[in-house]
Amino acid sequence: MEEKVVELILKDDYGRPIENIRMSVTQRCNFKCFYCHGEGQLSNSYVEMSPEEIEFIVKVAASLGVWGVKLTGGEPLLRDDIVEIVRRVSSVPGIKDLSLTTNGFFLKEYARQLREAGLSRVNVSLDTLRAERFKAITGVDAYERVIGGIIEAKNAGLNPIKVNMVLLRGINEDEIDEMINFIRENGLILQIIELERPYEDALYMRYHVSLDDIEGRLKREAKKIIVREMHHRKKYILDNRAEVEVVRPMHNTEFCLHCNRIRLTSDGKLKPCLFRNNNLVDLLSPIRSGADERQLRELFIRAVKIRKPFFT
Ligand code: 5AD
Ligand code: SF4
Repeated sequence: MEEKVVELILKDDYGRPIENIRMSVTQRCNFKCFYCHGEGQLSNSYVEMSPEEIEFIVKVAASLGVWGVKLTGGEPLLRDDIVEIVRRVSSVPGIKDLSLTTNGFFLKEYARQLREAGLSRVNVSLDTLRAERFKAITGVDAYERVIGGIIEAKNAGLNPIKVNMVLLRGINEDEIDEMINFIRENGLILQIIELERPYEDALYMRYHVSLDDIEGRLKREAKKIIVREMHHRKKYILDNRAEVEVVRPMHNTEFCLHCNRIRLTSDGKLKPCLFRNNNLVDLLSPIRSGADERQLRELFIRAVKIRKPFFT
């Protein structure tokens, strides 16, 4: 009996089960973070999927064993039908975890509605606790607004709330302690993220910082260390109220070896890897020409079968 359950989860040729899908619902963003990887989407596409199309794709994914969905952008809250998208996705049978990554700008307005529509938790990008630095990084003077959004998300019952902090040389390296205090005081989780670039370009050379030092420190200070299945990310429990996760994708073979996620671009193409752009599988065009669930499932399986770890 147990074996049967395992069989239902689709695996790629490297034995990696596909359990999560990270779906971009728009490429539009009201911020201009200078390091933004745009979720690895190269095409500049104005095509966006409708809530029905998104729901359809999630149904197909769920039928193949996917149980986690993360909605992302660009900035997903720029879509005026985001609440409907959340409602549709959260009601697909088999979806146990629905989260959303946002820059926080519209979170204050949306937190309650999103919670009511079935969103479980949220990730908010926040690299700094200094208003001037915030503006320098994002191009928008919106620090206070984003903090207000985080507080409102907390009050609305979204849980957990994770703060995404991309560590940047010479910009926010000195804020880790403050950030840990901030998440501790507000009942949040901190994710420290290594700057990711597909190539070691000028931006990478200038701003990339290794997370070795901070991770060494967390290791020494942690009461407990948990290794998450996804990417084998490490979670450091510092005390009852402070939890810090470290995301280190660069040149990390463990990270790729334990990648259980597939991506979908905002214009409806399955993207087997953040860093690769030569193996996209279009789902939206077939949907718009009338493909049924069985045909979509075949395309999905094809996309999973061409998955390959990037860092090996
Ligand atoms: N490296 C690491 N993280 C990035 N993000 C965006 N671009 C990069 C990058 N180059 C993060 C944002 C946000 C999430 C969607 O991805 O900070 O939290
Ligand atoms: Fe990119 Fe997110 Fe910043 Fe928008 S808020 S520019 S999507 S990192």
